[in-house]
Amino acid sequence: MSTTQEQATALVQALARPEIAAMKPYTSARSLAPGRGILLNANENPWPPPGGDELDLNRYPEPQPAELGQLLANYYEVEADQILMTRGSDEGIDLLVRAFCAANGSQPSARGNNDAIAICPPCFGMYAIAATIQGAGIHAYPLQATQGFQPDYAALATSGAKLIFLCSPNNPTGNLLNTQQVLKLAQRVSSSALVVVDEAYIEFSGHTSLSQAVAEQANLVVLRTLSKAWGLAGVRLGALLAQAPVVELLKRIIPPYPLPKPTIAAVTRVLNELGQQRMKQQIAIIKRERERLQTHLTGAPMVQGIYPSAANFLLLRVHNAANTVRAAARLGLILRDQSQQEGLGQCVRVTIGTPADNDALLDFFTTYQDPAAEPQG
Ligand SMILES: Cc1ncc(COP(=O)(O)O)c(C=O)c1O
Repeated sequence: MSTTQEQATALVQALARPEIAAMKPYTSARSLAPGRGILLNANENPWPPPGGDELDLNRYPEPQPAELGQLLANYYEVEADQILMTRGSDEGIDLLVRAFCAANGSQPSARGNNDAIAICPPCFGMYAIAATIQGAGIHAYPLQATQGFQPDYAALATSGAKLIFLCSPNNPTGNLLNTQQVLKLAQRVSSSALVVVDEAYIEFSGHTSLSQAVAEQANLVVLRTLSKAWGLAGVRLGALLAQAPVVELLKRIIPPYPLPKPTIAAVTRVLNELGQQRMKQQIAIIKRERERLQTHLTGAPMVQGIYPSAANFLLLRVHNAANTVRAAARLGLILRDQSQQEGLGQCVRVTIGTPADNDALLDFFTTYQDPAAEPQG
């Protein structure tokens, strides 16, 4: 066992909910015996439905399909035992919160840390939702708008939370975090917290992922997803990358068969050299389009500011976000109002679409006049 793995084992012992660590996990039929032979151990129907025989849809899937796990390990450049495949990274977030944070546990424990998460709003909403559902505490450390939406690392280091959620590039602000600072934070809290870096949009940034750093940093967790750059939001597949003891802990609480067979088949078909080439071509188009939108939206009548973005979306500050989103929807353009997010009053997030989609967006913004902006008579 490597030193990093030993550190991860100690960390899991110190931070995981004791009842999860002590629990005898459910053992599914497929995890006890692989799906070969005369299968009379899982109360399945022996016949697939019409059209379902190609995938043996009458049979339960492999809980963590080995072939797909290896393909993902190759793509993310980690060991196969450092991956947990989940139903989107949403599920990875949920599993982390449930495995580490007890309900109503926002009071400091004898170890000095809380059954709480730290978040840096404005950020992806599911971290707080998962914590609220679980009854875990939430410590919010707003991103510093004057510093390009960078986190307050010094404050985070003293948060006392068991899980520190960061996102790079951040949704919805679009900025990258400095990887050296993220790693420094992970080192500072190495015996008291896991640092979870959500890299859902990293492929659009052209920057190196932190995925390989999980080999060296025992308390680092990286969330990746096939929903964005890979164009596979519909299959629901995410990858949680961490040291094996963290992955093993989460396997104790993941449902027995999280990944549907059509998902496994679809991803296995796409995750190859050709698929990667196609993805890179699409990313190149999206980056070009991001620049084109940035240029042409600058100076549009109701656009008051555009935040720099390393992701596949732009955050715009407009005259009136609610009116803008409503007016766009009347033309069939669906945008997202971000005004409810901390510090993002009158902000709208627009995803970079196809060049034709983006033409429609530009047509809208170059002609749109908000009635609320008219001088009062
Ligand atoms: C930052 C971030 N993390 C995670 C997710 C969820 O991704 P998935 O589709 O893998 O559940 C999203 C989805 O929009 C996101 O923006």
